[in-house]
Amino acid sequence: MANKKIRVGVIGVGRGQSFMQGAQHCDMELVAICDLWKERLRDVGKRYKVATYTDYDRFLEHDMDAVVLANYCHDHAPFAVKALDAGLHVMSECIAARTMGQCVELVEAVERSKRIYMFAENYPYMLGCQELRRIYHTGEIGDVRYAEGEYNHPGEEDWRLSLSPGVNHWRNWLPPTYYVTHALAPLMYITDTWPVALNALSIAEKRTQAPQSVKISDVGSVILCRMDNGAVFRIWGLGMSSIHRVRYEVHGDLGLASTLHGEVRVHHEPWMRKPGVLTDRTYNPDWPEFAELANKAGHGGGDFWTNFNFANAIRSGKQPYLNVYRATAMAAVSILGWKSCLQEGQNLVLPDFKKKADRNAVRDDQWSPFPEDAGPGQPPVSLNGNLKPSKAALKQAAKVWRACGYKGK
Ligand SMILES: NC(=O)c1ccc[n+]([C@@H]2O[C@H](COP(=O)([O-])OP(=O)(O)OC[C@H]3O[C@@H](n4cnc5c(N)ncnc54)[C@H](O)[C@@H]3O)[C@@H](O)[C@H]2O)c1
Repeated sequence: MANKKIRVGVIGVGRGQSFMQGAQHCDMELVAICDLWKERLRDVGKRYKVATYTDYDRFLEHDMDAVVLANYCHDHAPFAVKALDAGLHVMSECIAARTMGQCVELVEAVERSKRIYMFAENYPYMLGCQELRRIYHTGEIGDVRYAEGEYNHPGEEDWRLSLSPGVNHWRNWLPPTYYVTHALAPLMYITDTWPVALNALSIAEKRTQAPQSVKISDVGSVILCRMDNGAVFRIWGLGMSSIHRVRYEVHGDLGLASTLHGEVRVHHEPWMRKPGVLTDRTYNPDWPEFAELANKAGHGGGDFWTNFNFANAIRSGKQPYLNVYRATAMAAVSILGWKSCLQEGQNLVLPDFKKKADRNAVRDDQWSPFPEDAGPGQPPVSLNGNLKPSKAALKQAAKVWRACGYKGK
């Protein structure tokens, strides 16, 4: 692949467009796209002048080297396994898998195919997080003992509805722990640690009647993770209406490094300070390289670096930092996080998917709160159970969905 352009296809023409826009900057060439939503597919296909498919299996037959999965959030694992088995490299949006059994299937498909698998988590590559990783690895704040990761992204109901077409759309069902990676991945990246156990609590809407929204899952959650170096990380957020905030804090035994929306702060107590080091400094860092491209990309530059790291991994033949083991470790936090919430914070131990024995223990585990998996023994999406939205909520949602061109229920 050294001198050839990497031919890439993208499934999902919503979020998928950010990969389409950035592909050319990383010596990748967009050659095909796939979506079930015909009108949107046609418009995006015309814009990029590429082949279009509504059938994923036919799309995989297109002459290409790699695919980007930006389809439904909870559907990525089976799509990734198919692409890997077809000999294609895969970059997958979050979440990597929706059950523990799918995590095992995904890990084994990557090992079997020997293709590159990258988890497309962009938040670790935002400017503030890259600077925190640099600082952490200078040793200035010592070893991490505690950290906080916060991703809280509320929004007005009509905006939220426009992103969630369909009563069963994942944004209306996803329990909050399942969208954990924007808060957790940056902390793992900054500190090179792995989660080994957790306790979690969910924050449910106060409900006395049928929900006034078609979103029936809880608004947020707090997960305490024990990390493999003994540290404790608190991961919290999702859609609480209090404040839109992206924040990471790393407390080391020699000081604190934190970032809030890109601005970085490093703090030492006076008695911990080394000669010549400021007690407290707050600044806006610069990109180490590719500033122009990163500044133009979405999500604080993160969207440039995901494409960049995927292309580099394919060219070098080496799995990227956000490999399948980190991806499935985070998926396990999502899944067991929800299990812990339903048991009011029970402590649960996470498997290590690098180990055969740990895989075998969960290989058949298809525990899942998603509507596609409904059946005996499956959990609800909310501490309130699986409530039916009110008539007024359904009417309002239908109005917004028609305006977006969505014709389904
Ligand atoms: N990293 C980030 O910052 C970020 C931001 C937004 C979304 N996301 C992730 O990106 C993914 C997509 O998000 P979105 O907002 O575009 O969601 P979405 O649900 O609006 O879009 C998914 C698209 O995939 C298509 N699709 C679903 N199943 C298909 C199939 N079988 N064949 C062909 N097409 C199919 C749908 O028609 C839809 O257009 C999700 O996993 C989400 O979590 C990540």
